[in-house]
Formats: sequence, structure tokens, C-alpha cells
Amino acid sequence: MSSPNADNRQNSLSTGQLQGEPPLGRELTERLLAISHEYCQAEGGCHGPDHTERVHNLALHIGRLMNARLDILSAAALLHDIGRSHEMLSQGKICHATKGAEMSRAILTGLGFSLEMQEAILHCIEAHRYRNNKIPETLEAKILFDADKLDSIGAIGIGRAFLFAGQVGARLHNRGVDVTKTRSYSTEDTAYREFLVKLCKIKDKMLTPEGKRLAAERHEFMEIFFKRLDKEIHGSPPTNPDTPQ
Ligand SMILES: [Fe+2]
Ligand SMILES: [Fe+2]
Repeated sequence: MSSPNADNRQNSLSTGQLQGEPPLGRELTERLLAISHEYCQAEGGCHGPDHTERVHNLALHIGRLMNARLDILSAAALLHDIGRSHEMLSQGKICHATKGAEMSRAILTGLGFSLEMQEAILHCIEAHRYRNNKIPETLEAKILFDADKLDSIGAIGIGRAFLFAGQVGARLHNRGVDVTKTRSYSTEDTAYREFLVKLCKIKDKMLTPEGKRLAAERHEFMEIFFKRLDKEIHGSPPTNPDTPQ
């Protein structure tokens, strides 16, 4: 099996996040979760192991509604971001989805997954960014794409956007500046810029009915939050504190 530091895996495992009986069985799921944690641990709050666990839970939720192959979906969700450190270290030259699929092949072979399952899982992983001509073609790949995108919007999306802004030393808000002209990763960056440039478009990219429903709900919450943030930043509190506008 190709994964670093096997002895530390159990330390980073939070099996409490597994809901119900996992589709791949508890033992195999815990092994995949441990491998995933090992690779994602260094990624900080935005793409750390808790992101993987939320995507896994969301993917299984949508998968159950759509009668998808939950075993394929489970493995793909757990491994989908294991290539991320390669993308970070190469400053974006290496695509983490493509790299993650390459890395996952050895892991899945080591764990005894059939070739047919491997191909299905690897397709989900390499298409989860919907870029570089790698588009989600199977039901499971579409579900993983939606689950991953859903984790970047709503209350979690807001939290992650501020966490990211903090990680790069950016600002709480950039009053009076055209946020579309500021750059990501710069100290002039803000969570609001991320919302206007990226997060507000995500609801229109969903590929499944449940993904669309959840995205619309999460989008609405983000609109309310950022409207309110802008109001407070400009020193104009609402007349009724219970009215979130
Ligand atoms: Fe990803
Ligand atoms: Fe992800």
C-alpha cells in the first residue's frame, strides 16, 4: 500500500464521523479514512480531514437518494483530495485531481479493490474538479462533484472563506474597493471577494437534483450573511436586531 507513516494513522482517525454502517464496511472505511487523513492533515482548516469527512457524508446522502453505488462513492469521497499537497507544492502546475487518481490506483490495488471498481472510483476522483476535459460522466462522479462543491458554500463555505483569508493574512473586509479587482492569496483578499467572484456561482453548477436543492438553500444563507456583513461594516445596524438584513 502506498501511504506515508502507517503508524500514525490511528492517531489521526476520527471514526466518530462515520455515520451508520459504512457501505464498504467499517474496517475498510476506517483504513481509507486513515490514509486520507494522513495525506490531508497538512492542508489546514480549508482542505483538512474534516472537509473530506463532510464531503463523504454529503456524497452518501445524495447517493442514497439517487440509488448510486455507495461503495464506489465512499472510496472516491475519502480519497478525492489526497493529491492536494502536490498541487500546493507545484503552485498549481500539478492538478490535485489527476495526481490524486494516480496515487489512489496504488492504494486501491493494495486494498484488493477489483479493476472494475478501481476504474469507477478513479474516474470520480479525477473528474471532481470538472476541469482539463475531465468531466463527471457517471452518476457517482456527478454526486462527488456536487458534494465537494456544496462544502464550499453555505455556513461552512463562509467559515472556510474566512479561514482561508486568515491563512493568507488577508482582511476581514475591503471597504470601498472593487473586490473583483483584488487578487486571491493577496493581503487585499477577503471572504467577500471569494463570495462575489466564485461562491455565488456554484449553485448554478450543480449536477444532481438534491445538489441543486441544497445549493440553493446554502446560497440564500450566504446572501443574507454577506448583505448583513456589508451593512455592519458600513456602520448601519438594522433597526430590528432580529431582522437579518
Ligand atoms: Fe479537490
Ligand atoms: Fe475537496
